Amino acid sequence: MLSKVIVLCLGLILAALFGQRIDTDIFLHVKLNSSYDYIIVGAGSAGSVIANRLSEDNNVTVLLVEAGVSELEHDHIPIPLAAPLLQQTDIDWSFYTAPQHTAFKAMKEKKGYWPRGRVLGGSSSINYMIYVRGSRHDFDQWEKEGVVGWNYEEVLPYFLKIEDMKIADLVNSAYHSTGGYLPLTKTKATSLPNIYQRAVEELGYKTVDVNGEDMIGYSHIQSNVLRGQRWGTATAYLRPVIGRSNLHISTQSLVTKILIENKTAIGIEMIKNGRKMIFSANKEVVLSAGAVNSPHLLMLSGIGPKEHLEKLKIDVHADLPVGENLEDHMFFFMKYMTADELSVSIKSTKSWLNILKYYLTGEGIFSFAGNEALLFDKSTQDNHSLLYPDYQLQFYSGTSAGKNLSADKGLTFNFNDSVLEIAARRSDDNEILIFPMLLHPKSIGSIKLKSKDPFDYPLINPNYLSQQEDVNILIEAVRKVQRIAQTKPFQEIGATLNRLDYEGVCDKEEFDSDAYWECLIRHYAVTAYHPTCTCRIGSTNDQTSVVDTKLRVKGIRNLRIADASVMRHVTSGNTNAPTIMIGEKASDLIRGKDTVIKFRKQIKQLRL
Ligand SMILES: Cc1cc2nc3c(=O)[nH]c(=O)nc-3n(C[C@H](O)[C@H](O)[C@H](O)COP(=O)(O)OP(=O)(O)OC[C@H]3O[C@@H](n4cnc5c(N)ncnc54)[C@H](O)[C@@H]3O)c2cc1C
Ligand SMILES: *[C@@H]1O[C@H](CO)[C@@H](O)[C@H](O)[C@H]1NC(C)=O
Ligand SMILES: *[C@@H]1O[C@H](CO)[C@@H](O)[C@H](O)[C@H]1NC(C)=O
Ligand SMILES: *[C@@H]1O[C@H](CO)[C@@H](O)[C@H](O)[C@H]1NC(C)=O
Ligand SMILES: *[C@@H]1O[C@H](CO)[C@@H](O)[C@H](O)[C@H]1NC(C)=O
Ligand SMILES: *[C@@H]1O[C@H](CO)[C@@H](O)[C@H](O)[C@H]1NC(C)=O
Ligand SMILES: *[C@@H]1O[C@H](CO)[C@@H](O)[C@H](O)[C@H]1NC(C)=O
Repeated sequence: MLSKVIVLCLGLILAALFGQRIDTDIFLHVKLNSSYDYIIVGAGSAGSVIANRLSEDNNVTVLLVEAGVSELEHDHIPIPLAAPLLQQTDIDWSFYTAPQHTAFKAMKEKKGYWPRGRVLGGSSSINYMIYVRGSRHDFDQWEKEGVVGWNYEEVLPYFLKIEDMKIADLVNSAYHSTGGYLPLTKTKATSLPNIYQRAVEELGYKTVDVNGEDMIGYSHIQSNVLRGQRWGTATAYLRPVIGRSNLHISTQSLVTKILIENKTAIGIEMIKNGRKMIFSANKEVVLSAGAVNSPHLLMLSGIGPKEHLEKLKIDVHADLPVGENLEDHMFFFMKYMTADELSVSIKSTKSWLNILKYYLTGEGIFSFAGNEALLFDKSTQDNHSLLYPDYQLQFYSGTSAGKNLSADKGLTFNFNDSVLEIAARRSDDNEILIFPMLLHPKSIGSIKLKSKDPFDYPLINPNYLSQQEDVNILIEAVRKVQRIAQTKPFQEIGATLNRLDYEGVCDKEEFDSDAYWECLIRHYAVTAYHPTCTCRIGSTNDQTSVVDTKLRVKGIRNLRIADASVMRHVTSGNTNAPTIMIGEKASDLIRGKDTVIKFRKQIKQLRL
């Protein structure tokens, strides 16, 4: 009885607090027209933005097609800490890579698991909400490689357009802005950031605004969370405009082909409720299906490497390096035991106090996704000649101790059973994790078709760690973590390394030698979920690129790509923010408009 009352009260409080999230899914059930001016494929980080912006012009019609369901159908999506529970569900594509020869030695069949959102909001509905634009030098480098119009000065105004900065210290910074669709806040979950910060300060790092003048140093995470709730692009960009009469959204609709006639994209073919349907685009088809599905769909439609398509008897409309140049970030785990319980344990997620605090204030452990702070730095590998950082450390204030990892598919990365069993046995409530992450891999992969069947997933081969230099940088990052662990603040909390070697896994190597760490990295390093560059951007005469600097597919009229796949190189940081920027900039390119004049003026005062 009492518990029923509590549940009822909680329900009422919830409704009062989050009542603004009204169910607008009725708009997903409109009768579709047979043609639209623009058809956007994929409602992810970029596609949702483009649907919003193109439908601002009430004289154009827009169809947004999404393979997955509405984001309102999953209760866990809004709760940041529940992010891992979204993996391996019906809103996840759940890709697996091909077996890797130089990495993934602790995975089943040496295949890694790649989650990707299949839902309104795409991967922004299942990601960890860390908001990092990337280094200014990333974009300047794109321009050096011929990507005219995308240097830092050109993209910064679009980053400003996105934001509704809520962090008090940053509201007045010229590097930030308010009034955009995407709220950015600073998470408050544990007392650990204070320790992280003092530790890296002892090593001489300064504390920076990761999205400000210089990202190298320590920063507290900025995340797209508001009142303790995830603000993915479905929430931020689609919900506010979902009722527009010139915008139709079709969910649970798998696009199987882009229709091309006379080298012109004229529409799409899709499958909904088991029926094949065709829609025509009067102006353009915009492909925003992400770094795996955009190249997949292009190749199915006859745009890709000629030889590869011909082998599968697909008519070739354009011979382009689709699916090549795949770049992804990898991260490695470093676990440290602490004397007391300082981070978020499974036990603490069961505490009524924590649950109540979250529902009443939107704060506490449920309001963050585990990560609290970042450190960006350059390794010595390039003799300090790099302008952008080449590794990142993520400070993760959580532990999976007490969780049955074999039963919980989400966090397991496809590790084999014996590895999971040992990991579970060695985990502890008193534990923190630091993830060294490689930012600019030299190991380049590819995505290819397995068959002509659109339901067959493509062959993903990232070639992880095929270049020794990538391992060397990760080892340097590991050494940095070790130095952090030796600082006074870490000694004070009793930080001791929780080793990952065991019988049969790296136990033959001398402990703490470079060979030891290399062995562990080749066993345990996993994807950081940032695949990019599979339809990279480049100048008209650049043979390695798929789209030109206006995002138009080369040699095909009325077809653009706008998502993480068009990046020239993966950025120095997590990839959601730059993908949203690509969505904003693409919208202006398509509309032939400059909507960021105000922000161009704002950044004049900065030394760029
Ligand atoms: C688990 C996880 C954690 C992450 N954490 C972070 C983080 O903390 N910070 C960060 O910056 N980045 C993070 N990322 C990366 C970031 O979310 C992605 O880089 C970004 O969302 C990519 O955006 P996109 O528009 O390219 O693709 P997506 O957002 O994946 O969107 C593609 C959309 O297209 C749809 N689609 C695909 N094919 C078809 C088809 N044939 N027909 C119809 N629809 C289709 C998909 O269902 C999807 O909705 C994370 C990613 C994952 C998976
Ligand atoms: C829509 O209106 C805008 C401005 O009013 C105009 O520039 C544009 O050409 C129009 N588009 C179409 C498709 O008519
Ligand atoms: C798991 O991987 C490790 C490292 O390759 C190996 O030693 C172990 O035998 C594997 N266990 C299973 C159950 O496959
Ligand atoms: C759908 O078609 C109707 C009738 O032609 C038209 O009035 C309406 O604007 C169209 N809607 C969209 C989103 O294309
Ligand atoms: C093909 O497209 C070109 C360029 O738009 C046009 O000149 C030509 O007439 C088209 N041919 C056919 C058969 O439609
Ligand atoms: C770094 O400098 C050393 C000594 O000058 C040189 O041998 C090496 O090739 C350089 N490495 C890189 C990556 O530039
Ligand atoms: C963990 O889950 C697996 C798979 O569901 C099950 O086989 C195993 O018995 C569980 N182990 C424990 C300790 O609960």
